[in-house]
Amino acid sequence: MRNLTTLAELTAGEIELIFSLTEDLKSKYEQGLREQLLPGRVMALLFEKQSLRTRVSFEAGMAQLGGSSLFLGPDVGFGRRESIADFGRVLSQYVDAIVVRSNRHETVVELAEHCECSVINGLTDYAHPCQAMADLYTLRELAGTLAGRTLAWVGDANNVARSLALGCGKVGMNMIMATPQSYQFDDDTLDLLRREVPDLELTVTADPVEAVGDALAIYTDVWVSMGQEKDRETRLRDFADYQINAKLMSHAQQGAVFMHCLPARRGEEVADEVIDGPQSVVVQQAANRMHTQKGILAWMLGANG
Ligand code: CP
Ligand code: NVA
Repeated sequence: MRNLTTLAELTAGEIELIFSLTEDLKSKYEQGLREQLLPGRVMALLFEKQSLRTRVSFEAGMAQLGGSSLFLGPDVGFGRRESIADFGRVLSQYVDAIVVRSNRHETVVELAEHCECSVINGLTDYAHPCQAMADLYTLRELAGTLAGRTLAWVGDANNVARSLALGCGKVGMNMIMATPQSYQFDDDTLDLLRREVPDLELTVTADPVEAVGDALAIYTDVWVSMGQEKDRETRLRDFADYQINAKLMSHAQQGAVFMHCLPARRGEEVADEVIDGPQSVVVQQAANRMHTQKGILAWMLGANG
């Protein structure tokens, strides 16, 4: 039984196995085939924060694989009615996998410790592993080989950035991050990266122009993540020079793509001309959330798992 709370739990070989399952399932999906790899399997979803992509792509993906989903609303009392340990011990008697989106990463870790079924992180304040899997798969589709290529991150060193750094390290990509000094990865994250992905070439700068120069992909995310709303004014001021717009993209190499996990705050971290422009692959990324999560579910719960 396997969990996915962060990408540290997957080896490079397992990521490649999930990507080849994804490739197969996506190509069948495009031919109108819904291969029933997980008949009778049940997935529960527990969301403490809003979601479009994660929730719907998991539910649709599970349905296509022949399984079913239960979206558990506030009436189950998660985190309020009984301990997380008791909740997990019981829920995991009924379902094969639980996708959790929680305010605090510790909640996912605690749940996973006490569940007898697989627990998948659907985003926490610390990590968003399913997003990073979809993003790396998207780059694999676009570029073929990932090893030795560079992902430029411009903006907050947040949950998505942390998962991408781990993912880049696993697949042999380099990462360059342009982030204001006080928003860069903390020492614990740098220690984690040194431990889990010692070969990752991570360059940190405060200069977005320097970051985008050599990159295959230029990635940003909101400056104010869910749960950080009280710091909104300060953050908008501190990140004001980090917008991805046509001027910044003019420093990127020919063929570089623009990426964003969505939802975007247009006019803040990205200008319309870029997110709607020819270099943008944001819809492909969002589509690949479903395909890669089908790969993850098939790997975790199916015959290949
Ligand atoms: N990118 C992403 O996780 O989107 P949702 O918040 O809509 O799930
Ligand atoms: N960093 C963002 C990602 C949303 C998918 C957040 O946590 O709100």
